[in-house]
Order: sequence, then C-alpha cells, then structure tokens
Amino acid sequence: MICGSETVVTHCMPEYAERLIRGRRATRAFRPDPVPEQTLRAVFSLAGAAPSNSNTQPWHVEVVSGAARDRLAQALVTAHARKNLSLDFPYSEDLYRGTYQQRRQHSGERLYAALGIHREDHAARDAYNAESLRFYGAPHVALLFTAPNAEVRMAADVGIYTQTLLLTMTAYGIASCPQGLLSFYADTIRAELGIQDRKILLGISFGYADTSAPANTITMPRAELDETTRFHT
Ligand SMILES: Cc1cc2nc3c(=O)[nH]c(=O)nc-3n(C[C@H](O)[C@H](O)[C@H](O)COP(=O)(O)O)c2cc1C
Repeated sequence: MICGSETVVTHCMPEYAERLIRGRRATRAFRPDPVPEQTLRAVFSLAGAAPSNSNTQPWHVEVVSGAARDRLAQALVTAHARKNLSLDFPYSEDLYRGTYQQRRQHSGERLYAALGIHREDHAARDAYNAESLRFYGAPHVALLFTAPNAEVRMAADVGIYTQTLLLTMTAYGIASCPQGLLSFYADTIRAELGIQDRKILLGISFGYADTSAPANTITMPRAELDETTRFHT
C-alpha cells in the first residue's frame, strides 16, 4: 500500500476525486449484512469535517440499526398507510417547474423502467414508494436533523454535510440512498427516536449494495456544464 506517499496522492487526487464522486449513486437494494461499528464511527467522524456557516455544524444525526431500525420501518409503513404525514420543511409538487420538472420526470421514468413498472401503473409506483419506507432493505438509516428554529441557511449546511457523508460512505465501499420521503413522516420519526423538537431534512439508507438488483443498474444523467454554470472574466 502506498496510500501515504504524498507524491502519489497529489498526482492521483483528480482521478481519485473523479472515481469517488462519479462512483456514488443512489442505491435502492441492499444486502442485509451490517456495517461494522468501528467503520460506522470512522465514517460519521470523517463526515463531520464538512464545512458550515461560521463553523456552526447545525446537524444532528441519528444512526438507526438492528431492532430499532425494524421498529422505525414498521412505524413509517403504518404512518404511510394511515396517511399520517408531517413535514418540517414544506413540499409541494409545483416546487419543481420547467427544466427541473422534466429532469424529475425523466429520473422517475428511468427508475421505473429498470424495475419493469409501466409509467401509467400508479398503483405499482405507489407500492414501490411505500416499500421504500423500509429503507430499501438497508440495515441502517441515518436521520439528519437540524435545529428547531432552522430555516434555509441551516438546511443548506445540512445539505453540505449530507454530500460529505455520502462521499465518505462511497470511499468506504458503503452504498447509500438519500431519501427525502422519510422526512414526510417527521412526527413519527421523532416519536420513535424520542426527539423533542429538532427538524428533520432527510434520511439516508445505507449498507452494502445488492449489485444484482435491477434498481441498482441505472445511472442518472447530468446537465451539461454550460446549462448550469457561467464563467465570468
Ligand atoms: C435531498 C434528496 C432527496 C432524495 N429523495 C429520494 C427519495 O425520497 N427516494 C429515492 O428513491 N431517492 C431519493 N433521492 C435520490 C435521487 O433520486 C438521486 O440522487 C438522483 O436521481 C440522482 O441519481 P444518483 O444519486 O444515482 O446520481 C434523493 C436525493 C436527494 C439529494
């Protein structure tokens, strides 16, 4: 192993970054075997190196595994069946318009095509979404909370933490799926985990990927650089 050699690391860093960043993808089927505790501690410790406004680090992370994970999954599925929704940050379908809406639709089409679900089969799509509340079979879920009074700036910090965590997991060979849907059941999650008033932004299901699953065969495209970025001189 030559991991520590400064020359090699500096020289190879862009290629490592390319592999790391493009190597992460949303994983929607997992093997049941858990991540060892020592690895969990290393991953969440490194993710804490994420930057934030004035170094406030306004994230609070609950990592749920084992029997607690099973209880939480059951509570979410029950809340879903009872239409017991509660969100800390508002969401509405028309939040995404124009190009954003097209990209959103396209990503759904890709996923459902890989799963063999017809685009008009709303019942099958709904059933798949409901089942995702069992964390796509992942042995762990991390719930990302922020302060009770948090607004967009703190939410942005948690977003930066989120990507740092996802990339750290990728570096450790751990697959993940960020799931905004979990935050639609904020009161259920708080009740299960004994949390008073912190706001929840999302959950991240994680573990080792089931590489044979059709859901894990898709790659989502990205917009061309010029569509999103302008360089001023
Ligand atoms: C904030 C956020 C919320 C997301 N919510 C969900 C979700 O509820 N369910 C899901 O299956 N994927 C969810 N995703 C995954 C996205 O669909 C995925 O990141 C996107 O399609 C790009 O694909 P990639 O991650 O494989 O590159 C979410 C991603 C982010 C960043």
